[in-house]
Amino acid sequence: MNLQEKLVQLREEALVKVQASATLQELNEHRVAYLGKKGPITEALRGMKDVAPEERPVIGSLANEVRDEIQAAIQTLQESLEAKALEEALQQETIDVTLPGKKVSLGTKHVLTQIMEEIEDLFLGMGYQVVDGPEVELDYYNFEKMNLPKDHPARDMQDTFYITDEVLLRTHTSPVQARTMEKHDFTKGPLKMISPGKVYRRDNDDATHSHQFTQIEGLVIAENITLADLKGTLDVFAKKLFGAEREIRLRPSYFPFTEPSVEVDVSCFKCGGEGCNVCKGSGWIEILGSGLVHPNVLEMSGIDSTKYSGFAFGMGPERVAMLKYGIDDIRHFYQNDVRFLGQFTGKGQ
Ligand code: PHE
Repeated sequence: MNLQEKLVQLREEALVKVQASATLQELNEHRVAYLGKKGPITEALRGMKDVAPEERPVIGSLANEVRDEIQAAIQTLQESLEAKALEEALQQETIDVTLPGKKVSLGTKHVLTQIMEEIEDLFLGMGYQVVDGPEVELDYYNFEKMNLPKDHPARDMQDTFYITDEVLLRTHTSPVQARTMEKHDFTKGPLKMISPGKVYRRDNDDATHSHQFTQIEGLVIAENITLADLKGTLDVFAKKLFGAEREIRLRPSYFPFTEPSVEVDVSCFKCGGEGCNVCKGSGWIEILGSGLVHPNVLEMSGIDSTKYSGFAFGMGPERVAMLKYGIDDIRHFYQNDVRFLGQFTGKGQ
């Protein structure tokens, strides 16, 4: 059989096989077998050297023709096999639009976040700025600048996680105030700020204590600030947060960074002052510590204490939330149990 006949025969044979392919895989096998580098067409062309030179162009173009025809047949069949496969897949994957849908449950803001945002909004509305600061803090800002030198016995009031002798986890957000005080330019107006955030103390975790909790502290420094300003401010705060009928009262207390220092109580929002289980029969609930900023604290930040005075207060949003919603265990705030968290869907949804 000469080369020409061989090529014609190859074409017949290949086209029959290609047409008979039932799967893409089978088709691919034929492609490799006939058109591949080791296939019979390439092989046949190798025999060209034995062909008379004048016949070579004829055979060459026949070989190309045969190859193109096989290729075209493969292409056509491949397209129809692919279309068939797609059709089958679509039929198998039909979606039953009548099936009931899956409910996507919406999260809510954490109750603490809600309370903190509520308190922040209240003070923002009174012209305060909200300031953040580091949780890993220097002893210098956490204690020394708050009038608590290294050997001060009142450091015991705040059991501390020390990292080194000079670095600790902040025990209150007062260091943020120290950092802001030393930068404040009083020619531009008074300093009015709150500092919300996480704080840490080496307490054993129980129903009312946690090694990590949150605080919001406030600070106002200007000329002629008195205890009356503090009382007026906290009165507005208590009425906004706990209801318009609330009263506050101040009791003497002690903090190293304030003088005088006061503990602030709010009239019981459950019984209105008659005495109940929430206020333990007294009619009053303690909500925060405060006082007039100690002159030493002002001076240490370079503020002239004969010209300026200020008040400061500090509260625990957990305690506020526990009182407001009757929550009996502080650990609920940190366990992220959705059955607990889902109950507070009121604000900020
Ligand atoms: N820094 C105090 C604390 O964490 C709270 C406080 C702030 C008390 C400001 C008085 C004035 O205990």
